[in-house]
Amino acid sequence: HPGDGYLAWLQYRRITAGANVDQYAEYNQIIVTEQDDVVIRSAVNELTQGMEGITGRKICISGKTERTPSIVLGTFGTGSRIAEVFSEEVSSAIKAEGYAIHTDSVTGDIVIGAVTSAGILYGVFHLLRIMGAGGSVQQLNMVENPVNQLRMINQWDNMDGSVERGYAGESIFYEDNRVTSNLQRIQDYARLLASSGINAIAINNVNVHQVESRLLTEFLPDVAKLAAIFRGYAIKLFLSINYASTIEIGGLLTADPLDSTVREWWRAAASKIYAAIPDFGGFLVKADSENRPGPFTYGRDHADGANMLAEALKPHGGIVIWRCFVYNCKQDWRDRSMDRARAAYDHFQPLDGRFMDNVILQVKNGPIDFQVREPVSPLLGAMPHTNQVIEFQIAQEYTGQQRHVCYLVPQWKEILNFDTHLQGEGTTVKRIIDGNVHGNAYSGFAAVSNIGNDANWTGHLLAQANLFGYGRLAWNPELSAEEIAVEWITLTFGTNELMVQTILNILMNSWEIYESYTAPLGVGFMVNPNHHYGPNVDGYEYSMWGTYHFADCYGIGVDRISATGTGYTSQYARMNMELYESLESCPDELLLFFHHVPYTHVLHSGKTVIQHIYDTHFEGAERAGQVVAAWELVKEQVDGRAYQQVADRLVEQAEHAKEWRDRINTYFLRKSGIADQWGRTIY
Ligand code: GCU
Repeated sequence: HPGDGYLAWLQYRRITAGANVDQYAEYNQIIVTEQDDVVIRSAVNELTQGMEGITGRKICISGKTERTPSIVLGTFGTGSRIAEVFSEEVSSAIKAEGYAIHTDSVTGDIVIGAVTSAGILYGVFHLLRIMGAGGSVQQLNMVENPVNQLRMINQWDNMDGSVERGYAGESIFYEDNRVTSNLQRIQDYARLLASSGINAIAINNVNVHQVESRLLTEFLPDVAKLAAIFRGYAIKLFLSINYASTIEIGGLLTADPLDSTVREWWRAAASKIYAAIPDFGGFLVKADSENRPGPFTYGRDHADGANMLAEALKPHGGIVIWRCFVYNCKQDWRDRSMDRARAAYDHFQPLDGRFMDNVILQVKNGPIDFQVREPVSPLLGAMPHTNQVIEFQIAQEYTGQQRHVCYLVPQWKEILNFDTHLQGEGTTVKRIIDGNVHGNAYSGFAAVSNIGNDANWTGHLLAQANLFGYGRLAWNPELSAEEIAVEWITLTFGTNELMVQTILNILMNSWEIYESYTAPLGVGFMVNPNHHYGPNVDGYEYSMWGTYHFADCYGIGVDRISATGTGYTSQYARMNMELYESLESCPDELLLFFHHVPYTHVLHSGKTVIQHIYDTHFEGAERAGQVVAAWELVKEQVDGRAYQQVADRLVEQAEHAKEWRDRINTYFLRKSGIADQWGRTIY
């Protein structure tokens, strides 16, 4: 059913109105020279399906020009038609996964040329995005290359069918400790990913337990089947591995990275994997983190651990992606000198230069854990001799768990545009992770997926925008959050202007709204322990997880400055260190991340901290209520089922926003004894 959201942004709905309908109808032939390549076959299938949907006419596929105008696909140098259309200048500007699209003004042919079949696939998806949104194809003339080399998705799926931090049902990959037999759904997922520009996927949770450890061995034939599906969409498959596999499944007594039997075990394991999957991507590793095993047990460091795996993969061209989410999760809350925010930098920065060239460090965007507001991780860019990718979380663990709408692209853009000043002004995060600043061999984006087996993939239909947006941003971080949202809305719901504008407003305001009724001024958490949904101000205050706010009757916030606090600020380049160190210059939205201040401290906004807390929480809850009303405006334009699905979630969000408001405001009224300036109801 069209309203269940399964087709997501690949609707290919019939375009019946608008200036360009007649243009599309002209094209009923696809010409392709290399049909035996699996990726080209996917491209042709997609184009056929897309064109037939959009024009409502049958499309035929041919190997040579029969009639014009046609849509012509090919790699440079193969078909003469491709070479003819594109100048040397154009074809030499196209990189491995890039493409050029050109409309021939004489014949009307639309020609997509690329260096690889992956480039053709991306070009096809681009053309379909244009037509899906009703755009003109008469004078296309574009050259596109992905800005980032690695554009990766991390599934946090377990083989029992559960998904760690999954908010959209169960896994589409596994059930009952087996790999799924529903390969069609996997293929549809691969299409969604490829269409947004993704080129790599790790198919199991970073927390790898006994059964998932056996994906390397016993389940390898099933993994090979999945790899074949993703291969058809130019997506490389990776596995998350258990660092202690040698013990867990290998029958050895150690996982010491310097032990020769351990190294031999991994070499043999890698050889078997590559025999089954010749283009296997490599390993994703969570080690010495949150009770997962790692090299620390043997007195070794992360470079020893990562290099041991890298050495096993190297002869096959594989890479190791080693996560930097390493901190002490058994901290004593009484110990004020320890600061979880420091951990990733303290562990990894001193190891710069020690990692093999096929190791990539995967660094979470912030120093804590995907909060609604955090500063940018100071580790990003701080290891010039080490490959890094940034890790985002598309899954909304701390941003409403796909029950609340929270369009995350604006947050990611802010992070990408952050100037680290590591090599002077303009050393932005996006330039670090596209590999430009340090000239890295590998670089790019990774993110935790937000999909499950719910019919619409993401639980909340509007959360699809985050999956789409992540891929588009990884392809080109210069796209604006609005542009991406408009693309997603038109491809998903259609082109009605009022509708597009209404949904755009809902998406663009959603992060700010969510932030305003949850934890204030960058302090983070205040959620219920374990599942992390809903307000609980002291939920983590006396726990071992290192996420505290230190509120008392005088004030709140974490002193992370160098002069008086944990010294976390010293991990930044001087400009940023000084920015955060001083109360005068620290941005309001991060104030409580960096400073402990009295409730009466006056923000740059002119409000006191306590009044800011009250005001934002009243406003946030009110605005969440207004979103319910805004959505009603699109009732006529959005399919009934889809409409209702979103409407129900928005109502729930508005209710829960009130709960957040009242819990937070009441907590701080009782702690501070300071009344709301406007005398509103606080309990
Ligand atoms: C968060 C999340 C965990 C996850 C971890 C990680 O802490 O709550 O479920 O395993 O991040 O990124 O490894």
